[in-house]
Amino acid sequence: MKHFLDIHTTSAADLRAMIDSAHAMKTARQGRPKGTPDDDQPLKGHMVALIFEKPSTRTRVSFDVGVRQLGGETMVLSGKEMQLGHGETIADTARVLSRYVDLIMIRTFEEQTLLEMAEHATVPVINGLTNRTHPCQIMADIQTYEEHRGSIAGKKVVWAGDGNNVCASFLHAAGQFGFDFTFTGPQTLDPEPEWLGFARSKGVSVAVERDPAKAVADADLIVTDTWVSMHDPESAKERRHNQLRPYQVNEDLMAKAKPDALFMHCLPAHRNDEATSAVMDGPHSVIFDEAENRLHAQKAILRWCLGR
Ligand code: CP
Repeated sequence: MKHFLDIHTTSAADLRAMIDSAHAMKTARQGRPKGTPDDDQPLKGHMVALIFEKPSTRTRVSFDVGVRQLGGETMVLSGKEMQLGHGETIADTARVLSRYVDLIMIRTFEEQTLLEMAEHATVPVINGLTNRTHPCQIMADIQTYEEHRGSIAGKKVVWAGDGNNVCASFLHAAGQFGFDFTFTGPQTLDPEPEWLGFARSKGVSVAVERDPAKAVADADLIVTDTWVSMHDPESAKERRHNQLRPYQVNEDLMAKAKPDALFMHCLPAHRNDEATSAVMDGPHSVIFDEAENRLHAQKAILRWCLGR
């Protein structure tokens, strides 16, 4: 049984195969109405549980549509309405759900909840985001980079802002897909040393540069995310805004990267905080391709989990 829990715990060969599959499935659907099924129906007769303990637009809709395109059915479950972790143990929920459904996707707070679900489920489990990582997003981002610029191997990716869970998965991807990674942000919001260490252990260049202008020199891709994540306390907002303002991705900063550099943001965004609307809607931006590719990349992940 194959769980998709994180990019650093999945083999580079399997990640590559999933991205290739995502490209192929996207190409095969070109011009089709979104509600039509794929020609290939590998999830026919399969039921997928989509569990959300945090809000979601992209993850919820893209998984739901993706499963249906592959011939399966979904049930969307809200963490609040379940007994998850309070009425019963995570392990018991995992065992029970495994008797009803063929696959579980979970978005939760603590990484431990995901790991316990995977340990005790007898069906594949997919990480739809935890406080620590967001691997499905970065699979879509790799697909997006490649469809615009070809292989990401050897390219320079710069993360500007908060070294959060999305940044963590980007660092894992740097190691697995072989691209260089520079983090630029305040020291208090540095990515965890473990994540930096993983990428370095794979032989790619990993840098931390406090000066955003220096960081983006020769960048092929600039990425940012919200300054306050879903799990951060509201009380942190003002301090974070003050700390992160110098790392806003605006047209001046974009102009210091390579002329053909791309801009990514996983969305939702706070326009004119972490990135200006001029950049988000400008010629370097591929943010809506990223959002679309959640659908295609996750279909590849679903197929991989089920061995199809
Ligand atoms: N990027 C992302 O995961 O979006 P949602 O929170 O809307 O699912």
